[in-house]
Amino acid sequence: MDKPKVFVTRLIPEGGLELIRRACEVEVWPGELPPPRQVLLDRVRGLDGLLCLLTDRVDAELLDVAGPQLKVVSNMAVGYDNVDVAAATARGIPVGNTPGVLTETTADMAFALLMAAARRIVEGADYVRAGKWHTWSPTLLLGYDVHGATLGLVGLGRIGRAVARRAAGFEMRILYFDPYCDAGQAPFVDLVPCCRLDDLLAEADFVSLHVPLTAETYHLIGAEALSKMKPTAVLINTSRGPVVDSEALYQALKEGRIACAALDVTDPEPLPADHKLLTLPNCLVVPHIASASHATRTRMAVMAAENLLAGLRGERLPNCVNPEVYLDHVRFDLTPTPWPPSPPPNSEFGIPNSEGEGGGGMG
Ligand code: DGY
Repeated sequence: MDKPKVFVTRLIPEGGLELIRRACEVEVWPGELPPPRQVLLDRVRGLDGLLCLLTDRVDAELLDVAGPQLKVVSNMAVGYDNVDVAAATARGIPVGNTPGVLTETTADMAFALLMAAARRIVEGADYVRAGKWHTWSPTLLLGYDVHGATLGLVGLGRIGRAVARRAAGFEMRILYFDPYCDAGQAPFVDLVPCCRLDDLLAEADFVSLHVPLTAETYHLIGAEALSKMKPTAVLINTSRGPVVDSEALYQALKEGRIACAALDVTDPEPLPADHKLLTLPNCLVVPHIASASHATRTRMAVMAAENLLAGLRGERLPNCVNPEVYLDHVRFDLTPTPWPPSPPPNSEFGIPNSEGEGGGGMG
């Protein structure tokens, strides 16, 4: 019997690739950069399964080009805002993601960024390398204490809670805002709920974002939100870049309306080297590496491979973001869904998915 045909859009850790190679006829995109759109469209034609990354846009056009035999889309990330899930559901295609395995690694990075920004670690290292360290000084590179400070978590999904556990060790006071989750689901540390995002922003010394990117979290942290924060506040983003309005953040940092920001994710992403955010000493940017440990990336690759293989066998994906495809009575609506996600409607704010690893994870 012919093996199923799959395309893997980048070289992923061997643990995952090996599982796929054993069962499939697989093509792996060899480039360091994602396959260009047209190449991706060419490659998906006639495929049985697609393993993609958060850098690949999987929308109705791509699914239609792939054809009706496509059985599964497996995204090697917990966040899946790059996939038009409604379009996949409409075509009866299950979409897989990788929740859980990157929670602690991403929370480690959120906390590392928090500390690095608060204590100006990168600026300090640059200072030494530049040969500027001539003496101990009572006023050199003063930062902000982490211990005992107030942390505001926006989103209390798995990663938000993992960051809370770390913060408890630093005796921080921990506030959270998440309309879809309450501390009852996270009874391990004392958490103070905020009914309004503004209350959290006004009180927190550190604001850390752990929401998925949706139409309602797009630019959640814009000029207005930034104006509610303390002038000494530190913003940490390990979710998705567009949750923060980059232009508004630039202005707030430049004018000292908040103290500093540490970003693992940006908008645009990647951030060009000449982007104005990078001209600011109080903005620390790393290249979307929050889940980038050897062990975690291998676990993500294995999980993505397992989702792919289950879908190819016609079995339920172990981690499926649109389980409604398994309901017999679902009527498929092939109306194209808008892409990219539109700016927030004038509805009351809400976070429909509080997992927050891509955006939970996003990171
Ligand atoms: C995710 O998984 O969504 C992260 O952003 C990358 O690990």
